[in-house]
Amino acid sequence: MRALIAGNWKMNGRLADVARIVAPLPAAAGALGCDLLVCPPATLLAAVARLLDGSAVSVGAQDCAALPDGAHTGDLSAGMLRDAGATCVIIGHSERRADHGETDGVVRAKVTQAVAAGLTPIVCVGESEAQRLDGHALDVVRGQLAGSLPDGFAGAVAYEPVWAIGTGRTPTPAQVAEVHAAIRAALVARFGAAGRGTRILYGGSVKPGNAAELLALAEVGGALVGGASLNAADFLAIARAAAMLPNRERDG
Ligand code: PGA
Repeated sequence: MRALIAGNWKMNGRLADVARIVAPLPAAAGALGCDLLVCPPATLLAAVARLLDGSAVSVGAQDCAALPDGAHTGDLSAGMLRDAGATCVIIGHSERRADHGETDGVVRAKVTQAVAAGLTPIVCVGESEAQRLDGHALDVVRGQLAGSLPDGFAGAVAYEPVWAIGTGRTPTPAQVAEVHAAIRAALVARFGAAGRGTRILYGGSVKPGNAAELLALAEVGGALVGGASLNAADFLAIARAAAMLPNRERDG
């Protein structure tokens, strides 16, 4: 399976930033051997999609509503995001779970909406530092998966330990491999063969300097990149680290 390197701009970026961050990507993408996805804030989706039109780089949103179009002031339906040019959507990021109280049930409803609108969901799970220190990381992640993924799930999962996001800290390779193996086992147990093909991304302080080590781990099918995705050179350096891994090409 080709690796997916996804950039999550979070609440960053103005129209004036789009060309600087996005314009270098299409020329590089063709030669990479991994898939690239850019997830700008919703205000920039259409502009980014226009710039990337016809290229190998995909565009995604960072969230969608749990309900279809209707009387929900300020919300954006999955169908609207698709209309603006998104083909993917990040759902259940820990910042959404923390800042907006999104429960597993809300995440599951959003995933259902995304799929109905033709968007590929990337569902985020991950433990807090306290949960890891208490020895509950695997239980927390298994519980989030069970509650957040609807039956028949088709999309990607991102393992993002909350304490690694934006902190410059990452789990050890053994910790990442352990959680990814547990996620794979849970996906296969619930979804069978489809669960075997689900991409499992790692996210949390992925940088050019640590990308090769993280992406080489078993069951790591790509990266969800926050801060480093706002710089085209760093984002492409991470993508090159993924593309250099021999197993990615072979399985692709
Ligand atoms: P970070 O964010 O790379 O800035 O740690 C990752 C994420 O939250 O997706």
